[in-house]
Amino acid sequence: MNKAMLSPSMMCADLTRLESTVAQLEKAGVEYLHVDIMDGEFVPNITLGTDFCRLLRQLTDIPLDIHLMVVNPENKLKWFDIRPGELVSVHCESTADIKGCLDCVHSLGALALAALNPQTPVSVLEGLYDDIDGVLVMSVNPGFAGQRIIPHSFDKVRAVRNELENYGLAGKIIEVDGNISFENAEKMRAAGADIFVGGTSSVFGGDSMADNIARLRAALK
Ligand code: DX5
Ligand code: ZN
Repeated sequence: MNKAMLSPSMMCADLTRLESTVAQLEKAGVEYLHVDIMDGEFVPNITLGTDFCRLLRQLTDIPLDIHLMVVNPENKLKWFDIRPGELVSVHCESTADIKGCLDCVHSLGALALAALNPQTPVSVLEGLYDDIDGVLVMSVNPGFAGQRIIPHSFDKVRAVRNELENYGLAGKIIEVDGNISFENAEKMRAAGADIFVGGTSSVFGGDSMADNIARLRAALK
């Protein structure tokens, strides 16, 4: 099993205090910064963009975890100045050329994850296992923070983990995104998840970020 890693969802951060927030996340040792890119077409919301990615790279060396929720991502990957060591998730539902997208991410030196919406069956990954570094399992319908987890998400993560193990790919990553509260994180870890997107349900909830991150780490032990 991979080490449990945190990827705070930057769309949930207080963007009026971005520099201070990033410094606190650095101090807390989070492994990635999750950047939700939405085009208002693939999902009914528009959030962060290419300039925000550039700004984050100026503020910190924490690698970005770019979650593309856009139609035809194959035409837009080049806009993001993707760097080696970053994570890029592309939705299987968003393109007819998922393999091309994954190859493009790899050609830029980054790790490529196939993202699945809640209603998308794990079977869509068949034929892709050799092309991915992991899977992003959406545990809410993508678009908005503050939603409630879709109950079958836990079984779905377990099913993806089982498939990866069946193919001898136990080292591949499973990232989970959506209402990853302290309690849900613990259950997702038991189901086989490795990277946890912390949003309003945990990292950016009411208490201090440092306390929330410590509590989330404790839940993942
Ligand atoms: C959902 C967002 C996520 C996450 C936010 O589309 O992409 O970043 O849900 O965190 P929560 O769900 O905890 O508010
Ligand atoms: Zn996301």
